[in-house]
Amino acid sequence: MDALTDMLQIPPATPITVAITTVTIAVAIFLYIKSHASNHSRRSTHLPPVPEVPGVPVLGNLLQLKEKKPYLTFTRWAQTYGAIYSIRTGATSMVVVSSSEIAKEAMVTRFSSISTRNLSKALTILTADKTMVAMSDYNDYHRTVKRHILTAMLGPNAQRKQRVHRDFMIENISKQLHAFVENSPKEEVDLRKIFQSELFGLAMKQAVGKDVESLNVEDLGVTMKRDEIFQVLVVDPMMGAIEVDWRDFFPYLKWVPNKKFENTIQQMYIRRKAVMKALIKEHKKRIASGENLNSYIDYLLSEAQTFTDEQLIMSLWEPIIESSDTTMVTTEWAMYELAKNPKMQDRLYRDIQSVCGSDKITEENLSQLPYLSAIFHETLRRHSPVPIIPLRHVHEDTVLGGYHVPAGTELAVNIYGCNMEKNVWENPEEYNPDRFMKENETIDMQRTMAFGGGKRVCAGSLQAMLISCIGIGRMVQEFEWRFKDKAEEDINTLGLTTQRLNPLRAIIKPRN
Ligand code: HEM
Repeated sequence: MDALTDMLQIPPATPITVAITTVTIAVAIFLYIKSHASNHSRRSTHLPPVPEVPGVPVLGNLLQLKEKKPYLTFTRWAQTYGAIYSIRTGATSMVVVSSSEIAKEAMVTRFSSISTRNLSKALTILTADKTMVAMSDYNDYHRTVKRHILTAMLGPNAQRKQRVHRDFMIENISKQLHAFVENSPKEEVDLRKIFQSELFGLAMKQAVGKDVESLNVEDLGVTMKRDEIFQVLVVDPMMGAIEVDWRDFFPYLKWVPNKKFENTIQQMYIRRKAVMKALIKEHKKRIASGENLNSYIDYLLSEAQTFTDEQLIMSLWEPIIESSDTTMVTTEWAMYELAKNPKMQDRLYRDIQSVCGSDKITEENLSQLPYLSAIFHETLRRHSPVPIIPLRHVHEDTVLGGYHVPAGTELAVNIYGCNMEKNVWENPEEYNPDRFMKENETIDMQRTMAFGGGKRVCAGSLQAMLISCIGIGRMVQEFEWRFKDKAEEDINTLGLTTQRLNPLRAIIKPRN
C-alpha cells in the first residue's frame, strides 16, 4: 500500500482520513461494479471489445503505471497484448494504441468521434480550462487560434519573417560555445543550458516582442530576473502538468478535498498570469512610444480584439512553453547520438563541407543535406520527444483496429511504441539515420508521427525542424563532439517530454 500512497499522494492517516477512506472505498467499489455492469449492457455492437490488460478491482492498472514513464510500460504491454489494448486507471477506461496504422485511423479516419479532451485537474487549471490550441477541444476556438498562430508566427510565411531571430539565436549559440572552449578547453560543455536559454529568448521575441533581462511584476510586487521568468513560464508549468491528483482517477470522489495539490497548481497559475500581464503591459508601453514591432502580440492586439484578457494571455504564453522544450530535447538527443557515433558525425561534417565549403550552413542549404535531415528524423523516431500524444477523449462510440470503442473511453496514442514497431522498423532499438536515406524524395514529416497527425498536427513542426537542423549542422560544422570517457549508453528520461535525465555533457574541439 506504501507505493500506492506515495503515488497517489495520499496524506498520512488520521482517524478522520481513515473514516473518509473507508467510506470512499466502499462507494468506489459500488460504483465500479455498477459501471462495469452497465458498460456490458450498453455494448450493442457486433464488434469485439478491445483486449484488456488484467488489473485489480477498483484501481485497475494504476499500480503498474507508477514509474511515471508510461510510454515504456505501454510499449512493453504491446508486446504481450497487441497493438491496441485497454487498461483502467481507477474509474477511467483507456485504450492504448501502439501501431502507426491504428494511430492514423484514430487521428484521421475516426477523428470526428475522438476530437475532445478530458483534462486532468492540474491541466484544467494550467490551461485556464482549455484556453489554448494544443489542449482545447476541436471547436471554433481551436480553429481560430490555430489560424492566428500559423498566420502570425509558425506558418511558412511567418517563419520567413522570423528568420532574423533564428539566425541571431544560432549565432549566439556558436559564440557561447567558442567562448566556452577558449575559457575551459578541457571541460565538458552543458549544451542544454545554452540552447534552452537561447530558445526561450527566441520565443519571447516572437511572442511578446522582446527578450527581457528583468521585469517588474506588479501583481506579485517583485522584480524578476530572466531565470525566474523562465522558471514561472516554462519549468513550473511543465512539472505541474504531470502532477497527479488521485481524484483524477476517481471522478466520483471529487468532493474529497486535496488542498495541498490545488494550492500548488493554483500558485503556478497565478504567478504565470502575473508575469504574462506584466509582459503585455511592457509591450503596450513600447507600442505607445512608437516602436515598430512585428511580433505575435502585435498581430493579436489588432486581429483578435474580441479576445478576453485570459485568451490573450494564454495565446501568448502557449508558444513560449512550446518553443522552449521539445526543440531542445530533439537537438540534445541528436548531439548525444553524434558524440557517441564518430563515424556518423564525420559523415555529416563531410557532407556539410562539400555543400557549404567555408561558408556557414544556412537554411537554404538544408534541401542539399539529406543526411542531416535523416539525423533529425531518426532522432524524432528513436527518442520521440512527445512520446504519448496528449490524451484524446472518445465522445461517441467508434471503431479502432476492428474493435468496438465505447464513448467515454480515453485514448492514448503511444508514439514511442509506434516508432518501436518491429514489423515497420528494422531493429527499432538501433539509432540508424540511414533508414531515412532510402527514400528518393524528401522525407515525409509524418512518417514518425512525432508531430501527431490529422487536424491536430503540431503547428510548430516547421520551426522545430529549421532550428534543430541548423543547430545540429552548425555545431558539427564548427566543433568535433566527443565524450570525455568511453561512450556510455545513457538514455534515461525525465518529465512530460523525453528530456534527457542527465544533460548531455561533451568535450568540444573547434575544427580548423
Ligand atoms: C521537435 C519539436 C516538437 C515536437 C516533437 C512536437 C510534437 C507535437 C505533438 C505530438 C503534438 C500533439 C498533436 C496531437 O494532439 O495530435 C503537438 C501539438 C502542437 N504543437 Fe508541437 N511539437 C514540437 C515543437 C513545437 C513548437 C516549436 C511549437 C510552437 C512554437 C509547437 C506548437 C504546437 C501546437 C500549437 C500544437 C497544437 C496543435 C493542435 O492541437 O491543433 N510545437 N506538437
